[in-house]
Amino acid sequence: MSRNNSELPVTLMGESVIIPTLTQLIEETEATKEIDKALKKKARLKERYLFSPSANFEDLGGIDDIVNDLKEYLDPEQRNLVELGYNGCKRILISGVSGVGKIDALDYGFMSAARFTKKVYIDVPDEKSRSSILKVLSKSIKINEDLNFDELGAKTPGYVGSDLRDLVDEAGLVADERLRKNKTRKPNEKSSDLDESMETETNISRNVIDTDFYIALKRIKPSLKRDGFASIPAITWADIGACDHIRKKLMATILLPVKCPAFMEKTMRGKTSCGILLHGPPGCGKTSIAKAIANEGEIAFISVKGPEVLNMYVGESERKIRDIFEKAAKAKPCVIFFDEIDALCTERAASERSNVTQSVLSQILTEMDGFDNQSCLVLAATNRLDVLDSAILRPGRFDNHIYVGVPDEAARLDILKAITRNNKPPLSSEVSLKSIAYDSRLRNFTGADLRGLIERAHTIACIEMYDEIGTLDEEKFVIKPHHIESALKERGASISDEMLEFYLKSAKKVGLS
Ligand SMILES: Nc1ncnc2c1ncn2[C@@H]1O[C@H](COP(=O)(O)OP(=O)(O)OP(=O)(O)O)[C@@H](O)[C@H]1O
Ligand SMILES: [Mg+2]
Repeated sequence: MSRNNSELPVTLMGESVIIPTLTQLIEETEATKEIDKALKKKARLKERYLFSPSANFEDLGGIDDIVNDLKEYLDPEQRNLVELGYNGCKRILISGVSGVGKIDALDYGFMSAARFTKKVYIDVPDEKSRSSILKVLSKSIKINEDLNFDELGAKTPGYVGSDLRDLVDEAGLVADERLRKNKTRKPNEKSSDLDESMETETNISRNVIDTDFYIALKRIKPSLKRDGFASIPAITWADIGACDHIRKKLMATILLPVKCPAFMEKTMRGKTSCGILLHGPPGCGKTSIAKAIANEGEIAFISVKGPEVLNMYVGESERKIRDIFEKAAKAKPCVIFFDEIDALCTERAASERSNVTQSVLSQILTEMDGFDNQSCLVLAATNRLDVLDSAILRPGRFDNHIYVGVPDEAARLDILKAITRNNKPPLSSEVSLKSIAYDSRLRNFTGADLRGLIERAHTIACIEMYDEIGTLDEEKFVIKPHHIESALKERGASISDEMLEFYLKSAKKVGLS
């Protein structure tokens, strides 16, 4: 069946799957054109179901309804054709929906028992697919004629069908908010990000405009970014203290090359390195930094926890690694983040090394060697640089090493400010963050230790308040110097001098930076 404009695309987790229109099944007449229109309308109503990866057979029952509704218009032979056609589609759709990334896991007998006429692998959409998916989805809302779908496609790396659906819905809401605000707005009143869009639009558009989409983009994050992290990381650079030099370095090494592949290609011969390794003692902010990068926007971010990739089934871990790199190449510009990579790339005598880690390691190396590093980068974090296989640190792989170390006094102050920003937790005016940061007892305190200290002081203050007034009153609650003092007596640095020396020594081996 050939594709033409009369086909109705239905997007499934990103990729367009085509439902043949009635006119392609039976000869075109005026009646079939009318039926076709009705069909398209109905199918669109059902689209939402198809975006859910958990959609099941019942969810797709809607297609049967459509066929039933049509029967009265058709003679028996036509009816047969339509049923055949649509049932075929239903099977394609089902295999697509249930098979997102997991088609291999389906029972072979089930797959081969002629239930599925065709397997459709639904992939992360590339830039062009994203803009056409957005075009289809935007039919459900009123959009401005000059909406730039190409630009939107470029701004949504890593967004899959369901994310794009959410994005379109959100853009509709933003437009509503904008119009409502505009009606109630007093002259010269100016506040949220919504106002920015109002200010830039001279003629207030009643339809959804580009800026509505850009605001929606800030609110809807692609689900790829949520992979691997237990929760959606809401962390931004404002939550991280004292890492400005690391931020700048990462912006230069990650964002610039990934966002400007054409520049890199023109100005540098051959393959440039594609791996960056964050290393240093535990609790100093490596994972937090990666989460902040994930939230930077305009790049897809796939996060993988090292230990989670290891699987007891032979070949399964390697397949996961392959999938991750494939996914990244499709979602470019993209950063893959391997947290706790030491779980995957440990250096031991070959005989000692378990078969799984050995083959996972070679899989990662193979993938990195063949990786399109112009628009994809691999970021990794470890607190066990000493055990990493040297093959992974070789030039061309993770040859960009960034040490995330224990903070000094000034850095501690910066971190304390970040941890207590926006008056959360509320500190009494007698609390001096500077004197805490410069207290010699805080030597070797990591970011995590500082967070632990403030958390403990908070708990102590809660207990004290409850003991005094029998309840917790947020209006009166503040952390006072003596709460911090008590917490300090209970808490020490998690890193000893010897440990620190050890970390610095292994960092120096790979060139401390
Ligand atoms: N620079 C920092 N600014 C603010 N908070 C920090 C900073 N560093 C660490 N923290 C706090 O410590 C917690 C742990 O940090 P994180 O998980 O990023 O450390 P890590 O270096 O990844 O440790 P590990 O090596 O054990 O994985 C964070 O959730 C955060 O609360
Ligand atoms: Mg970590």
